[in-house]
Amino acid sequence: MTAKTMEELVALCKRRGFIFQSNEIYGGLQGLYDYGPLGIELKNNLKKAWWSSMVYERDDVEGIDASILTHPKVLKQSGHEDTFSDPLVDCRDCKSRWRADHLKEGKCPSCQSDNLTDPRPFNLMFKTSVGPIDDGNSFAYLRPETAQQIFVNFKNVLDSTPHHLPFGIAQIGKAFRNEITPRNFIFRVREFEQMELEFFVEEGTDEHWHKLWTDLRLQWWFEQGVNKENIEILNVPSDELAHYSKATIDIMYRFPHGLEELEGIANRTDFDLGSHSKGQSELNITANVTKNKSSNSKLAVQNRETKEWKIPYVIEPSAGVDRGVLALLNEAYKVEKLENGKERTVLAFKPHLAPIKAAVIPLKRNNEQLVKLAADLKSLLQKKKLGRVVVENSGNIGKSYRRHDEIGTPLCITIDFETIENNTATIRNRDTMQQHRLKLENIPEFFAANIEAN
Ligand code: GAP
Repeated sequence: MTAKTMEELVALCKRRGFIFQSNEIYGGLQGLYDYGPLGIELKNNLKKAWWSSMVYERDDVEGIDASILTHPKVLKQSGHEDTFSDPLVDCRDCKSRWRADHLKEGKCPSCQSDNLTDPRPFNLMFKTSVGPIDDGNSFAYLRPETAQQIFVNFKNVLDSTPHHLPFGIAQIGKAFRNEITPRNFIFRVREFEQMELEFFVEEGTDEHWHKLWTDLRLQWWFEQGVNKENIEILNVPSDELAHYSKATIDIMYRFPHGLEELEGIANRTDFDLGSHSKGQSELNITANVTKNKSSNSKLAVQNRETKEWKIPYVIEPSAGVDRGVLALLNEAYKVEKLENGKERTVLAFKPHLAPIKAAVIPLKRNNEQLVKLAADLKSLLQKKKLGRVVVENSGNIGKSYRRHDEIGTPLCITIDFETIENNTATIRNRDTMQQHRLKLENIPEFFAANIEAN
């Protein structure tokens, strides 16, 4: 069962410290959110799972972490300066502004007026000045996608690693878009994170790789706990394709507010590397771009047999971290009826994604012996390096269980007076609520086996 409403998720996220409105004490800034103590753990776990599957579990992908501030020429060549815009309309009556393609029946969502201006393109990129003199010429953009910094580092990575086609470059990082109408919690925001892979292949093999990456990405989301029934595949119609794309498959997810894009897998052809190669020639820049001066195209690769230099094609699986977090929260959220007629809320995350892996709970908060045993066990479990383990010393066992169910902690371990007598503790499973006792010395192994298993 998934969440009933977005409001339920937003309330849980605030109450338990997953996600807060950004700059809240000054009234908030629209389209920006901050991740709290549990949100950052969940988000990091999601990114770690992505990085592991994209980089560590493959031998044909390298990672980078490039700058956010981007040279204007990069985004000129990529087409973003000229085309990265949404259609903006003004309501002449209430003076509000909207994205034309988000209007229902051509009416202003605020006052229902149809007295609207014609749509005009609104560029979504944020600009900022660089250096101490703000003369309007020394500016940079906050990158609108992480991809461009991968393309401009293509040769650096190719020349410094043993790879040949096909190979990929992965990056996780912030992207910024001045969305006209940010909305639906962390679904559409102005500052967000992307997990992007640019996978470089030979022309002619691109369609094969496009299909393969779509299958791999779908499978990966299922492994994170996304239910197949909440996914639909959209073959983006040709008149809606981004300017760089020959074909795009969107992985659509049933969010609490509706079916929308979670990840896009685009066939970017040789558009970006070709465009940056052209930019290089026009600027006559040769330094650090290619070692081989005989190459006609600078961001190119030489075929080992034919010796021909060709610009690779690119397949790009691009996922939003924040949309991923929202999907995982939605999947994990359950309200269950208990035998005693009460309800409990549970976030049934897969263990590798759970913000806290185990809570060690001394039965009495003021009993030094119990608290010390709990702290020692926590240290032992933490040494397994499987994620965060906490001592929950609130003194109320029932409340502690409720809290850890609600934040998705897979295991609660209670240290009680029997622990002092016979060195055993009670282990409670979040999903089944079943409890059993285990020798303290066997708990680290049990913990590792349960958390490592997806
Ligand atoms: N490099 C390709 C690219 O940026 P995109 O479809 O514009 O393609 C990729 O974005 C992913 O980034 C989307 O599938 C979505 O998950 C996420 N994303 C895009 N805009 C977003 C926004 N305003 N807020 C949150 N996530 C966003």
